[in-house]
Amino acid sequence: MSLRPANRDQLRDALAAGDGPGAPPRHVAIIMDGNGRWAKARHLPRVMGHRKGVEAVRKVVEAAPGLGIEVLTLYAFSSENWRRPADEVSDLMGLLRHYLRTEIAELHANGIRLRFIGDTAALSDDVTLMLDQARTLTAANTKMTLVLALNYGSHDELLRVTRALAADVAAGRIAPAAIDAAAVEARLDTAGLPPPDLVIRTSGEQRLSNFLMWQAAYAELVFTDELWPDFGAASLAAAVATFSQRDRRYGGR
Ligand code: FPP
Repeated sequence: MSLRPANRDQLRDALAAGDGPGAPPRHVAIIMDGNGRWAKARHLPRVMGHRKGVEAVRKVVEAAPGLGIEVLTLYAFSSENWRRPADEVSDLMGLLRHYLRTEIAELHANGIRLRFIGDTAALSDDVTLMLDQARTLTAANTKMTLVLALNYGSHDELLRVTRALAADVAAGRIAPAAIDAAAVEARLDTAGLPPPDLVIRTSGEQRLSNFLMWQAAYAELVFTDELWPDFGAASLAAAVATFSQRDRRYGGR
């Protein structure tokens, strides 16, 4: 993988300058859907769709910094995905292990910072160790932040935030009246990250499926019929171009 050595600030300024489309999204979040249908259409086992899906992950991670994207969040495993057959869950965890084992050094060399959202403590010990190592190794990188959502669901995240706030109230650390949006955001898994500007979902489905429900309150949504294994650099650029044409109003006007 080689990342384009684009100067992100220059690119952002140029895009925002007026003669091109608007500024690129700082944070893009993707619901990677359609691996199973991709495999089914080829009479292949579902795992082949997921494997091809990892290749698409590589392509978008490689392309994103050159498009001016600062944070890329990928919905890799939802808190509801445990309901899938055990062998599929095991395949997905195996692909995650393989991805972490084989890609981290190159991601690090390319200046990518890794973060993870979701209840990762519930993953197996070897995976949580790999996540810790990846997070620590890449913590100081600044080219782009890659956020993998693992055992993530917004309901679960907001329940964990609620419990943390309740504990803080019970301990006298915060008054109920002092709980504001900033207090919630500081306790979200995404604390410190900008909210997603653009949420993309592949495979023709048009729903958020428990993904970044708080954070995506003002995100632009782009739905594409492309199945995730077919998604790549050009598809990401097209979604960013669509975003750049949108008129964002944040409830004003
Ligand atoms: C949805 O397709 C996709 C998933 C549930 C998992 C996404 C995982 C990957 C792309 C691979 C692992 C990622 C990393 C970062 C290692 P689906 O199976 O729901 O497709 P379908 O709706 O067509 O059945």
